[in-house]
Amino acid sequence: PKRIVVLISGSGSNLQAILDQTLDGQINGKIAAVISNRPDAFGLTRAEQAGVVARLLDHKAFADRESFDAALIELIDSYQPDLVVLAGFMRILTPELVRHYHGRLFNIHPSLLPKYKGLHTHQRALEAGDAEHGCTVHFVTEELDGGPLIVQAKTDILTGDDEQSLQQRVHQLEHQIYPLAVQWFCEERLSLSGDGVMLDGELLATTGYQ
Ligand code: GAR
Repeated sequence: PKRIVVLISGSGSNLQAILDQTLDGQINGKIAAVISNRPDAFGLTRAEQAGVVARLLDHKAFADRESFDAALIELIDSYQPDLVVLAGFMRILTPELVRHYHGRLFNIHPSLLPKYKGLHTHQRALEAGDAEHGCTVHFVTEELDGGPLIVQAKTDILTGDDEQSLQQRVHQLEHQIYPLAVQWFCEERLSLSGDGVMLDGELLATTGYQ
């Protein structure tokens, strides 16, 4: 089984979805540790309840981003992960960290990238009058929310949707596609190849969108 380290800052519902599938065997992997940068992240409790190592690395204890990320790399590497999964980890990463985990660092983002990088994605999709919205799992590269896409899920925006209803529906979709991408990686079906993603030997997507 592959070794997975999951980074969180909050509720950890995506962590839970992945954790459940490692426990029931759908993912050929084991979560070696969960690391939060926030002491109050409920995901730490989820990890503890499942008997998974839960570690806090509080960014407020560090003078700058570089020293925090250096300590984070050291902590992550102490668990020797094959894959590092960002699951609601609300920190911008240094280029050093991103490069260190090249080809084995995933993120999930609550929009149909390349649309709506950054924050407040649901509100922005509503304000733009979009017909659809969704979420994206992607490899992390140095460009914020800009790495090659692995998988997306879409939902129609309905009359009467507000930020909360849309957020809830997208969250449900996240819980489907994130474990799926982790499954593929753990079965060695998925890799980053140059600017593209290979799934079962086929090129899935190219990057470079701005
Ligand atoms: C998810 O909706 C995820 O897409 C988002 O944070 C939420 C975490 O939920 N991530 C980002 O916005 C990254 N910029 P969770 O803690 O319940 O998994």
